[in-house]
Amino acid sequence: MAASKETDSLDSKFYKTADVFFPAYSNIGLTFDDVTLATLYSEVLPRETQLDIVLAEGLHLNIPIISSDMDTVTESRMAIAMALSGGLGLIHYNMPDREQLSEVSRVKNHVHGLIQDPIKTAPDQLIGDVLNLIEKKHFAFSTFPVVDAHGKLVGLLPGHVVKQRYSKRKVVEALTPRTQVQTINKRDLGHDPIAKADKFFTDHPGIHKLLVVDDQDRLHGLFTMSDVERITQERNAQFKPGRDAEFRLLCGAAVSATRNAFGELDRERILTHVGGLVERGLDVVAVSTAHGHSKGVGDAVRMLRDAFPKLPIIAGNVTSAAGVEYLADCGANCIKVGQGPGSICTTRIVAGVGIPQLTALYVTSRTAQKKRVTVVADGGITKSGDIVKSLTLSDAVICGGLFAGCPEAPGEVMEFSGKRYKQYRGMGSLAAMKAGSAARYGHSNDTNRKVAPEGVEALKEVTGSVDRVLAQLIGGIQSGMGYLGAANLAQLREKARYIRVSPAGQREAAPHDVVELKAGG
Ligand code: XMP
Repeated sequence: MAASKETDSLDSKFYKTADVFFPAYSNIGLTFDDVTLATLYSEVLPRETQLDIVLAEGLHLNIPIISSDMDTVTESRMAIAMALSGGLGLIHYNMPDREQLSEVSRVKNHVHGLIQDPIKTAPDQLIGDVLNLIEKKHFAFSTFPVVDAHGKLVGLLPGHVVKQRYSKRKVVEALTPRTQVQTINKRDLGHDPIAKADKFFTDHPGIHKLLVVDDQDRLHGLFTMSDVERITQERNAQFKPGRDAEFRLLCGAAVSATRNAFGELDRERILTHVGGLVERGLDVVAVSTAHGHSKGVGDAVRMLRDAFPKLPIIAGNVTSAAGVEYLADCGANCIKVGQGPGSICTTRIVAGVGIPQLTALYVTSRTAQKKRVTVVADGGITKSGDIVKSLTLSDAVICGGLFAGCPEAPGEVMEFSGKRYKQYRGMGSLAAMKAGSAARYGHSNDTNRKVAPEGVEALKEVTGSVDRVLAQLIGGIQSGMGYLGAANLAQLREKARYIRVSPAGQREAAPHDVVELKAGG
């Protein structure tokens, strides 16, 4: 609905577009809580908003959220969960190259709903041993495929015989023999294995398990009817999994600009490793360092661009227009922005450098538009409202802390005073640098040398699974878009108008003057 000239000019006096607002605050660094967004007339229902984004040619995300390349955040389990929800995971590089290759393979070979490495039993095991295993590992299931020493399928141990009264019997005496077990050859799974399994269960009333085998009858996986039913229902979800042209889940991986013994960029190692990642189907590589506007990072990006002309490259981190221009000119498609905003970062304290995130995003996004590259906002995001503000300037966001408490993040759960936590540490913390990430901060991996850590080792309270955390974040983004009348992310960027918030305004924004019984979200 068109507003009158008078109301329009009153609004625009207070609520300013990015190009008016940020230059007016060129003498101060602003971050998420320093500003708020003004609402606009809207005909957009939050649930109808579109969140898809093209980060580079050939890299299309259904939601603009990426999990951080940190060793306490993203390995294959997290990357699979992110891609299944429409986002992307960047596998960290604090591991030997061959391990990173297999982590990427795990994501690219993941078949949703197929348990690819099911818990198996052996024919001569006692049923009592199986019962002990169930108790020890807290398994919620009791049906197990039975395989021989070569991985060949021998039969299926059904739950109704896994009972104490049979504990002295061997598995081979109680199993359903191979001839009566329903299987499918993995060759026949096709592009849509879930649809195949779903049809199988409809065609075979009473059968709840379907085993996957190869030509040699070796076991390769297991479908259960309950998983398949849940996934078939989820298919109506608005945000589809992120997949490549061959229907495999999207996966990214980070590499650092490592140097050889002579202090030169280790070209051979980087090229061989990224070549291996690409062979396994990697969708995007991230040259991930604390200081992206540097010769080593530029040289690495240039070298990768020459060697892999079609591979999308994310590079960073920078916070200046010149940094964006430099990395774009070197051949990066997408620039990672953020120096010091992360929840575990101490770069600003230790090195005295870094820029509050919204100012950094404004400065970098304007140059990115000119250079036709995209921008991802990396670090400092603690709530969905921060993501909405971020997306008014960036194309996507990278989150570490928000996902570090999920079961899909690496690491064990610890319990203190009745509360459950997972470890979350900066890649510039001493422990992470010892494990390999020192190059990211411009140090050698020689742990005997004294280096100043730029991150802390911390804990995150255990949260729900990635899809639950994402559901909250996406709900918040969609609400924000509804308030601004933005049907998609391009409109959000176009329509955003900002105003600075006073400390009293910040206090007003959070629950106040109440006794909170239940935290929001
Ligand atoms: P959040 O706020 O999501 O931030 O937990 C994650 C991002 O922080 C960056 N990062 C670091 N920055 N020292 C830093 O200055 C560190 O030790 C460190 N570790 C991670 C990184 O960009 C990540 O995505």
